[in-house]
Amino acid sequence: MSCPARALIDGHARRVTYLRVSVTDRCDLRCVYCMSEAMSFLPKRDLLTLEELDRLCSAFVDRGVRKIRLTGGEPLVRRDVRALIGGLSRHLASGRLDEITLTTNGTLLSRHAQALADHGVRRVNVSLDTLDPDRYRAITRWGALDQVLDGLAAARAAGLAVKLNAVALAGVNEDEIERLVRFAHGEGMDITLIEVMPLGDVGVAREDQFLSLETVRARLAERLTLTPIADRTGGPARYVRVAETGGRLGFITPMSHNFCESCNRVRVTCTGMLYTCLGHEEGRDLRRALRGSEGDGLLHAAIDDAVANKPKGHDFDLSRAGPPMLARHMSVTGG
Ligand code: 5AD
Ligand code: SF4
Repeated sequence: MSCPARALIDGHARRVTYLRVSVTDRCDLRCVYCMSEAMSFLPKRDLLTLEELDRLCSAFVDRGVRKIRLTGGEPLVRRDVRALIGGLSRHLASGRLDEITLTTNGTLLSRHAQALADHGVRRVNVSLDTLDPDRYRAITRWGALDQVLDGLAAARAAGLAVKLNAVALAGVNEDEIERLVRFAHGEGMDITLIEVMPLGDVGVAREDQFLSLETVRARLAERLTLTPIADRTGGPARYVRVAETGGRLGFITPMSHNFCESCNRVRVTCTGMLYTCLGHEEGRDLRRALRGSEGDGLLHAAIDDAVANKPKGHDFDLSRAGPPMLARHMSVTGG
């Protein structure tokens, strides 16, 4: 089989080494900033099959991708996700891939944590916006906080490093951010705060959800000592060390700061659309390339074309009137 060992370098001299793949648009929760209550999900035939996901990820590994993150939706609601990870772990064993990670809501983690660790997963990101059970139910529309806390315990028992992701929501969890930070660091976890992004129609006004992390950070700084640290993951997060806890705190501020110069990533949706930027509509259909031929020539050609045209950056703007900036939901593109 042809295996073009060419690195993926875009038109702005950025090297693509990080692939995020959504394995399902489904989720067992309905977070208010992510989904509407009555979401309709895609028919199964539209999703990439297990074999197609493996082929696609492996093609990216051939092209120098060193890190793969599986997302959703909720990746653990897809039944064959463990088989996918088990298969991809051959690239870890061969040294061609550094990491397979997951972004999960944690509700099914107690069931899967050990198997993930056995397949070579070392770290997971768990989304958690509150430590209050009633609030958790309100944000997720029906989730049970205990399940997530059990999942966190199972992850740590399995030796997985955990990073929490918390979306800052105006009037919802803004009074709880310090508690979340202290909780995470007390349990030996990093935590990253995220500004809400205008992705998909969720049935509420985005401006009402938005809380600037500049505000959050200023408030935290009144109570905690935040020292910027240089750690970069090639991603959007900027980190500080919290002197009082010794832990690491990240800020992802897509709305108030542009973070695109050092972007090293591309995303594939659960239907196989390749997006080289979270903030742009234009994508390439890798599913067609996968299904169009048994060899990977079409696939590599589509990837080349997309990467060559990777935009320099995004421009979200909440003040713009009208429908959400991007029609596709985070759960399709992958968080
Ligand atoms: N804006 C910001 N973060 C979001 N997430 C989901 N939807 C949005 C949005 N519209 C977050 C989830 C999770 C991560 C995958 O993305 O909370 O932490
Ligand atoms: Fe599910 Fe994550 Fe979206 Fe919440 S944010 S509905 S957990 S995919």
